[in-house]
Amino acid sequence: MSLDHAEVKPHERLAAALADDLAAVNALIRERMASEHAPRIPEVTAHLIEAGGKRIRPMLTLAAARLCGYDGPYHVHLAATVEFIHTATLLHDDVVDESGQRRGRPTANLLWDNKSSVLVGDYLFARSFQLMVETGSIRVLDILANAAATIAEGEVLQLTAAQDLATLEDTYLKIVRGKTAALFSAATEVGGVIAGAPEGRVRALHTYGDALGIAFQMVDDLLDWTGGAGIGKNIGDDFRERKLTLPVIRAVAAADSTEWAFWVRTIGKGKQGEGDLEQALELLRRHGTLESTRDTALGWAAEGKAALAALPDDPLRDMLMDMADYVVARIT
Ligand code: IPE
Ligand code: IPE
Ligand code: MG
Ligand code: MG
Repeated sequence: MSLDHAEVKPHERLAAALADDLAAVNALIRERMASEHAPRIPEVTAHLIEAGGKRIRPMLTLAAARLCGYDGPYHVHLAATVEFIHTATLLHDDVVDESGQRRGRPTANLLWDNKSSVLVGDYLFARSFQLMVETGSIRVLDILANAAATIAEGEVLQLTAAQDLATLEDTYLKIVRGKTAALFSAATEVGGVIAGAPEGRVRALHTYGDALGIAFQMVDDLLDWTGGAGIGKNIGDDFRERKLTLPVIRAVAAADSTEWAFWVRTIGKGKQGEGDLEQALELLRRHGTLESTRDTALGWAAEGKAALAALPDDPLRDMLMDMADYVVARIT
């Protein structure tokens, strides 16, 4: 890989800067995802974990800890914890969303079954808690336990808001803050906490992670409409699941009576047929809501970058700044 900045994506540059730490995280993940007693566990976890994934959240933890001057061993445990929580939520999420593709592979629920995905997800959650206990920090446990609860809340709120055309932007924001940003902000915050950083820096790391996570999920919701093959997930899952993501909320708000009838039929009543996905996309384009969602994500990315001003001037801080641009510009 060339190290020319123009060609290397920010998350790849972060991965190169944190290469040794990241190798230790991957080794720890591999060690702890195994189970002697139930062979189905390593089968399912290997399927998902060996498929890669961008490892954004563990990199955030590692970068935050290093940026705050940490030189102990536990940032590796915390980074692995965060990736385990993420992986557990993906297993559960693909069952809930009835998704068929993840990380360019068939989902575990498709290859095995829903039962295996739910139970292996539970196993990974439990493993994540074992890992964080090893750090000996009650504060870190508090932050990550809260994040785990908040993720579940966000997913449940989304479940009850789905199909409801009256869903407002502030409900959407609560959902993405819960299901996605909570883990981003916990990932950055625990990096600062384990390093014993001053409160102002810990708060800044939290604010950065929260804003980054919100921007990340907004763009993920765009990619659900416009993503290419590299995304490794099926396009149109959100429409099929009748989710009111930001581009849809804004298109519904701008709908004329014919468009309103279309949304009532497809999302309100769930009566979808051939060509409806394309028609829905056409309405998003007509009202410019893909662009406006990207603009809103850009605003959150800027907020995240502003928070980083409270952190030491360091190449790692610059890479975290670039990550904020990347989550909005990304196409995978
Ligand atoms: C997917 O997250 C789940 C969302 C919050 C949208 P990522 O896009 O970070 O997933 P991987 O780990 O890279 O596959
Ligand atoms: C992912 O939400 C958030 C969690 C896994 C908690 P989505 O359902 O929007 O993400 P993808 O598109 O399946 O990755
Ligand atoms: Mg999903
Ligand atoms: Mg989901």
